[in-house]
Order: sequence, then structure tokens, then C-alpha cells
Amino acid sequence: MNLVLLGPPGAGKGTLAARLVEEFGLVHLSTGDILREEVARGSKLGKLAEDYMDRGELVPDEVILGMVQERVDGETDGFLFDGFPRTIAQAEGLERILPVHLVVYLDLPEEEVVRRLSARRVCKQCGANYNLLTQPPGVPGKCDRCGGELYQRPDDREEVIRNRFRVYLEQSAPLVGYYEKKGLLRRVDASLSPDEIFRKVAEVLRG
Ligand code: AP5
Repeated sequence: MNLVLLGPPGAGKGTLAARLVEEFGLVHLSTGDILREEVARGSKLGKLAEDYMDRGELVPDEVILGMVQERVDGETDGFLFDGFPRTIAQAEGLERILPVHLVVYLDLPEEEVVRRLSARRVCKQCGANYNLLTQPPGVPGKCDRCGGELYQRPDDREEVIRNRFRVYLEQSAPLVGYYEKKGLLRRVDASLSPDEIFRKVAEVLRG
């Protein structure tokens, strides 16, 4: 089974992915996480991607497809794609690499996206996600898990969040119809709690 998580920024793709990976043993492939690691390492790819990411624009398709192909490394099963594909060209490229069996579409309106992402904080050390509104850390600014420092992603400023949402509508939302036509899409209301969302998706995966 290969699963794709589709949805606007802040819909909860990363949060759901962490639970699904734990429960179903899938290999988590988040293009956003990979790109942030490359930026942190100061690699050539990271330097190329950083400007796009800081503006909330998409990194070019051929760069993303090359990166995914390298990570998949000839395996054809057991992947959970988070934040990929994000354009029709990426979806077509993915089909040349391996088959997609299910696409979970997490749907969330713009104002809720802005509210959630403005309040997101991430641990610099272990990458754990917090939310000042719904899931605050026990000690302000510190990770409950590892004590690391919490930071705000540079693309979680309101003007960048709004641009990411606009880019999502223009370039990624057409994937909803694309996968619906193939009979692969399951819609989930992303305004539900993380537990409810996980329960609904887990039911689908267990068949
Ligand atoms: P990426 O890292 O993929 O960002 P994104 O898609 O914008 O997604 P986010 O990580 O912001 O949100 P999420 O849906 O994972 O939500 P999360 O679970 O964190 O991409 C970043 C950039 O990299 C892009 O802008 C682009 O430049 C580049 N890029 C990446 N992939 C690319 C590609 N394929 N092609 C081209 N460019 C690419 O949750 C958000 C917050 O809400 C958290 O605080 C969380 O605690 C909270 N939360 C989660 N679920 C719930 C819930 N159910 N109820 C209440 N709060 C919740």
C-alpha cells in the first residue's frame, strides 16, 4: 500500500502521518521535512530550495521528483507521501516511479489554516510539533519530549501562510479532481480533532 496525504498547509498532514507511521509501519516521506533538512545542512539543494520555501512558493517539479526517486530507491511499496505530489506534473511523475493506492484529502478553510499555522511551534532538536492554541508545551518555549528549544518556522508568518494557501489553490487543489477521477480519493474534514481524523483514516486502511 502506498498512501498520499493531500491538503492545504496546516491541514494536519504531518500530525496524521506520525500516527499512521507508528500504527501501520509505513515509510514516511515528507518533501517539506527533507527540504528543511537540506536547508539546515546548507547543501546545494537546500540553498536552491530556501528562497522558494521562505516565499511560500513551490520548489520546481524536477528537483522534487529527483529527490523522491532517490529516497524511494527502487522500492515499490509501503510509502506514506506527505506534502507530495503537489502539482499534476508531480503526480504523473510519481506514477512513473510507483503506484498510488489511496489519497487522503484533509480539507481545511483558509482562516483556520492561518489560525493554526500562526500558533505552530516546532522543536529544533527532535522536530516535535506543538500548537500554542491546542497543544501547548508544558514549559513555554521548551519541548516536552527532549527539552529542545521551540521555534517558529520562517514560512509560518501570516503573509507567507496566505501565499502558501494561494499557491495551494492554484497548483495543488487540482489534484483533488485528478485523484477523484481515478477513484482513489477519501475526503476527511480536517477541522476534527487529531484523534478523530486518525480513527477515520485507520478504519479505511484496515479495510
Ligand atoms: P511542507 O512542510 O510540506 O508544508 P505544508 O504542506 O505547507 O504543510 P505544513 O507542514 O505547514 O502543515 P501540515 O499539513 O503538515 O500540518 P501539521 O500537522 O504540521 O512544505 C513547506 C514548503 O516546502 C512548501 O511551501 C514548498 O516551498 C516546499 N515543498 C514541500 N514539498 C514540496 C513539493 N512536493 N513540491 C514543491 N515544493 C515543496 O499541523 C499544523 C499545526 O496544526 C500544528 O501546530 C499542529 O499541532 C496543529 N494541528 C494538526 N492537526 C490538528 C487538528 N486536527 N486540530 C487542531 N490542530 C491541529
